[in-house]
Amino acid sequence: MSSVLFEECKLQNCILKNRIIMTPTFMAYGNEDGTISSAVLEHYRDMGASGVGLVVVENMIIDNKRSRFGRLMRIDTDDVIPDLAKLADVIKKGGAAAFVQINHGGRYAFITNPMAPSPVPAFDGPAPEEMSPAQIETVINQYVAAALRAKLAGFDGVEIHGATGYLPAQFLSPRTNKRNDHYGGSLENRMRFGLQLVQKVREAVGPDYPVGYRFMADEWLEDGLQLDEAKVYAGELDKLGVAYLSVTAGLYESFFTEDKIALSRQENYMADLAGAVKKVVAAPVIAAGRIATPDAAERIFNANQADLIGLSRVLLADPQWPLKAQEGRGGEINPCRADCDVCIQLVMRQKPVICAAWDGSRKKRFNELLKN
Ligand SMILES: Cc1cc2nc3c(=O)[nH]c(=O)nc-3n(C[C@H](O)[C@H](O)[C@H](O)COP(=O)(O)O)c2cc1C
Repeated sequence: MSSVLFEECKLQNCILKNRIIMTPTFMAYGNEDGTISSAVLEHYRDMGASGVGLVVVENMIIDNKRSRFGRLMRIDTDDVIPDLAKLADVIKKGGAAAFVQINHGGRYAFITNPMAPSPVPAFDGPAPEEMSPAQIETVINQYVAAALRAKLAGFDGVEIHGATGYLPAQFLSPRTNKRNDHYGGSLENRMRFGLQLVQKVREAVGPDYPVGYRFMADEWLEDGLQLDEAKVYAGELDKLGVAYLSVTAGLYESFFTEDKIALSRQENYMADLAGAVKKVVAAPVIAAGRIATPDAAERIFNANQADLIGLSRVLLADPQWPLKAQEGRGGEINPCRADCDVCIQLVMRQKPVICAAWDGSRKKRFNELLKN
């Protein structure tokens, strides 16, 4: 199989055994109070043993009061550190490195009093409160504290969620940031929150501890963030020493439009965006988006669109994707059907994911675990 896919790779001081990443995938397996359940540990044990080089654990919230979405796991207080340590450990025992994604929902928090750069409501939710400079500082400190907890718990690195329209992306976007102060208006101002945040986190965790960034290359909305501005931001993040840029696109207002549903059914559907970002940064770039087969991954490397590949639904559908690829058995990969959206439908309703591609015994195992 591909010499590139199974080459060792370095993300700052973290060595990956290959270039296959499990990108964050919210499963809604956490307990109602945001703590880690036995289903979470079992799921990530499997993912750590799947043969990927790195598992990036799904987004965890840095502020339980202002960033809630049912069943998200918390990384907002020190009492969760022992459980986080168990989670990092089960992943690493399987042979993968372990990172965790940290996140603030901003206007996407499913609470009565969300806060955001500007009072632009999400869907039919309430208009968020415009964040004051003091609140901005508090939130940046919450990201820093969460990153330090990840480090203390034994994660090999941390990923800041700057995509899918969450808080850093809300500041960057001209559609959701209507501020008149030095956090709004020009691109330079809209980039300020994300750049301050990355800088503060990097300073706190130290220069060798990898801080990756989930990167929004395009909001896929006419009045939203476009690739040309995103590339400028990528260059600035690169200067700050991010460990990688994990490129994605779209947000809840654009994901479910007819043309984007059709696009997301195609193999490698965001690889061109990763390629555009890769041209302007020195940091490693991760491409994601229905990289269904080892051959599809190979095409991304051949076109120089990314340094690593990210799998989410395709890995869920077949946790043996990497092992089968390594053994030249790509044809035996259990496919994630392009027209299936069961996992997305479930998490949007805050219900735990039972993948439609799983066999009966795996479905039964997780249904049992989730009862407890
Ligand atoms: C159910 C589900 C949950 C997801 N949760 C996250 C998340 O927590 N953080 C994130 O950055 N991306 C998340 N994603 C996006 C994936 O990481 C990935 O970029 C996207 O699904 C495309 O890859 P795929 O075609 O292999 O699924 C999620 C995707 C799905 C389907």
